[in-house]
Amino acid sequence: MSNIVVIGTQWGDEGKGKVVDLLARKAGMVVRFQGGNNAGHTMVVDGELFISHIIPSGILHPEKVCLIGNGVVVDPAVLIQEMQQLRARGISVSPRNLMISENAHVIMPYHKSIDHGSERLKGDKKLGTTGRGIGPCYEDKVTRRGIRFCDLIDPEVFEEKLSIILPEKNFYLKDFLKSEAVDQESILREYLPYADTLRPHVANISLILSRAVKAEDHILFEGAQGTHLDIDHGTYPYVTSSNTVAGNACCGAGIGPTRIHGVIGMVKAYTTRVGRGPFPTELHDEIGERIQQKGAEFGATTGRRRRCGWLDTVVVRNAARLNSLTGIAITKLDVLTGLKTVKICTAYRYKEDRLTEFPTALKVLEECEPIYEDLPGWSDDITAIQDVDDLPKNARAYVKRVEELVETQVQIISVGPGRKQTVVLQDPFDRPKP
Ligand code: GDP
Ligand code: IMO
Ligand code: MG
Repeated sequence: MSNIVVIGTQWGDEGKGKVVDLLARKAGMVVRFQGGNNAGHTMVVDGELFISHIIPSGILHPEKVCLIGNGVVVDPAVLIQEMQQLRARGISVSPRNLMISENAHVIMPYHKSIDHGSERLKGDKKLGTTGRGIGPCYEDKVTRRGIRFCDLIDPEVFEEKLSIILPEKNFYLKDFLKSEAVDQESILREYLPYADTLRPHVANISLILSRAVKAEDHILFEGAQGTHLDIDHGTYPYVTSSNTVAGNACCGAGIGPTRIHGVIGMVKAYTTRVGRGPFPTELHDEIGERIQQKGAEFGATTGRRRRCGWLDTVVVRNAARLNSLTGIAITKLDVLTGLKTVKICTAYRYKEDRLTEFPTALKVLEECEPIYEDLPGWSDDITAIQDVDDLPKNARAYVKRVEELVETQVQIISVGPGRKQTVVLQDPFDRPKP
């Protein structure tokens, strides 16, 4: 048995969905442990495109069990819609292969209204959230006013909790955010049927995981967002509202750290970011434009254009430490094909200093200038390559240099969105040597 966590090392959208779908073949279970439907994870199977926001990316494998852990915030309408869309495409989704933690918090209509209202109020200081109510839902969880799935599926408890919280939410919505109030009756009318649909899927996820551990099944933990969107370790306040680092797989699923055997850090071969916040290697020129176009860098959740720039190994090294990575998966290497020179940021220039560690203070980070190393590019099409020796020499040199700079073994190289467009150098489920 080997239990692996897959997390993003940058600002999200590194290709977690593709790699989780690929690795799920070997796993018994796939577990989401944080975030919500702010995530958009893409899988391309036999040319068919699937985007998953809340259901784990193992769902396309009919025999695998997908779990939504306690650390996730779940919008029941989105979850049900996703279940229906999968079924309509012939994918089986039932309480046998999809379960949601009793402790997972429910995203309510007022969370979405508050998310929109507070972004509007911030004006040009807005964070650029996905507007899915993620932050306000986590706020309620931490201030102990949230509604969990075990509350949602008990109509009496649900109604009581709602009647306690609504006056406060409506005061905030109307008087502070100048938004519309929400109405208890209409929430009940909308949410009680959701509860009926989802009740058979609600379970004790920690218990299910402990049985899998006893049965020696491989478990795959699927992170959402990326390390630099982590609430503690990211570019605060331009972050999401959960811990996105691998350590949270334990907390957000209900399993202890002794059960985790490996952590794969997803590294896009360049860098992207959606929403606001500092981004030292961002490109505002035709190369940035070219990467955006060739990489089809549009958000899988909001459709927003992703900001693009060169690979930043200060960022990835930071993630290697914060997550104790045992391996990395480099994705979208094919997007760099055709560039004469490929740049890698190895350090930052800050005033007179050369920084090799990612700074915490936003003010410092905003003034950092990337220091680049130039590598020769390659022009041969690499999108069908499955063996590392078939990669052009310069593409191999690029991967090697990333490995050296991040001091972590490259285990997977992705050269296209499809399952087969992958070079596996080392099976992540093989236990790392101590
Ligand atoms: P996630 O949020 O980390 O799962 O990533 P997204 O799904 O939001 O964004 C990654 C995008 O890149 C998706 O459209 C994938 O289909 C696509 N993709 C993944 N790996 C590769 C690759 O190696 N090459 C190319 N060209 N596209 C890829
Ligand atoms: P996946 O899992 C990229 C960004 C938003 C915004 C910030 C806060 O697909 O990699 P939120 O709605 O979470 O309060 O927004 O975080 N963000 C993501 N960016 N990929 C994601 O998920 C993201 N989830 C949130 O754009 O800047
Ligand atoms: Mg995404």
